[in-house]
Parts: sequence; structure tokens; C-alpha cells
Amino acid sequence: MSEPYLIGENMTGGYGSGADILHGCTLSVEKGEIAVIVGPNGAGKSTAMKAVFGMLNLREGSVRLDGHDITALTPQERVVAGMGFVPQTHNIFTSMTVEENLEMGAFIRTDDFRDTMEQVYDLFPILRDKRNQAAGELSGGQRQQVAVGRALMTKPKVLMLDEPTAGVSPIVMDELFDRIIEVSRSGIPILMVEQNARQALEIADKGYVLVQGSNAFTGSGKDLLADPEVRKSFLGG
Ligand SMILES: Nc1ncnc2c1ncn2[C@@H]1O[C@H](COP(=O)(O)OP(=O)(O)OP(=O)(O)O)[C@@H](O)[C@H]1O
Ligand SMILES: [Mg+2]
Repeated sequence: MSEPYLIGENMTGGYGSGADILHGCTLSVEKGEIAVIVGPNGAGKSTAMKAVFGMLNLREGSVRLDGHDITALTPQERVVAGMGFVPQTHNIFTSMTVEENLEMGAFIRTDDFRDTMEQVYDLFPILRDKRNQAAGELSGGQRQQVAVGRALMTKPKVLMLDEPTAGVSPIVMDELFDRIIEVSRSGIPILMVEQNARQALEIADKGYVLVQGSNAFTGSGKDLLADPEVRKSFLGG
């Protein structure tokens, strides 16, 4: 099998000098794919995403992007290398306007980013209407659009999203998933954590179930949805 576009392989490590949270965890995403990570609260999903983004010192394992070992790079260097990351919490600047948030997203760029901003506004038209409003005044779903839009401003080659639909209604969740599919079809592979496991696996090319920092199940979204054990333990039957 050829090398995946982005892979965190055999990742073991935790926070500071604390106990290991990840135990040989592997996550990857191929070009053109949506890969979804599900699992119980505290399983280490966010920790694994942070590890891939370079916010954790791994004791073992490596992270590779497009065939290059990036394990030693800082998060900022990984952004320059083409990674976009939307963390689970604190993913927007609430006191800044929507447009200022997008401008902040473009911090590494030295070229003209107006076109990219227009693309973000085309993807999320409500953000164009609210461009001069403080991001903290937006609804939950709109804030998540700001967060995803901010990450897109660097023109990432791969996008990592930690619970992009947290706290939104089912209708807004469906809309966000549609936009995420649109982003992936535009050529940006997506690695995302989702609490709405069933719905997320439906749009996933590949799914991971993480339990206690390890890979418990891996398969196509379809296979995981059909797996009796995965259904019983993680999808509510
Ligand atoms: N900054 C931190 N410092 C120390 N321990 C942490 C830190 N963040 C998370 N942990 C611990 O790591 C473990 C995994 O947490 P993590 O946030 O990765 O889980 P998760 O699968 O993302 O959960 P959730 O579904 O609630 O988002 C937990 O035991 C948590 O207490
Ligand atoms: Mg989490």
C-alpha cells in the first residue's frame, strides 16, 4: 500500500511528564478522503489530533505529511507545511469580527488573500453577511463556520477538525457536513473527530474507533456502521 497523505503512526505519549494518553495510536487520511475518528469521551481523540498537529511530545511514533517526516516540526511550521487545524475549543477570537478572524487565519501568508476570503464567504454565505459582527455574537453553528473558514485561509493541503458540529442542532449538523464534503471534494482531505458518530461515519471514507488511546476498530465508514460490536458499544445499538 502506498504512503497515506497524512499519517500519525504508532503515536505514544501524553501531556508533559504525565502518564501516556496515547498508546500506539495510528490515524491517517488519503488524498480525496474524509477520515472520521469516533470514540467515548476521554478516549484521547483530541489528544491524538493535537499529537498529529505537533502540540504533544511523542515518546514513540512519527507524523508524516506527503511522504515527509514532520515529527520534529512545531505546530506553526506544520501550518506552513500545509496543515490546517480547528481545535475542539477556543477555536475563534470572540471579540474580533468575523472578517478579522479570517484575516488572523491568513497570518502566515505574505500574498494577497482576498480571493481565499471570497472563497470562504462563498462556502459560508452567512459569514459574508456578518463579516463586521463580533464572532462571539454568532450562533454555535456560525461560530464553527468561522473556525473552519479561519483554517481555510492558509490554503491548507489537509484539514483537521475536532468536533466541528459540537453543540449544533441536527439540521445545522447536516449543513456543516455538506460544507465539509464540499471542502473535501475541492481537493482538501479531511481528518475529523466527531461526537455524532453515526452521521459522521455515513460520510466517512474511513473510520477509526479510539478507546483508551488505542485503535479499537478501523474500517470503511460503511463497514464500521455495519459492525455489530461497533454498533452495540459505540453507536447506541
Ligand atoms: N491539557 C491536558 N493536560 C493533561 N491531561 C489532559 C489534557 N487534555 C486532556 N487530558 C487528558 O487526556 C485524556 C484524553 O482526553 P481527550 O481530550 O483527548 O479525550 P477526547 O476523546 O477528545 O474526549 P471528548 O470526547 O470529551 O472530547 C483524558 O483523560 C484527559 O483528562
Ligand atoms: Mg475531544
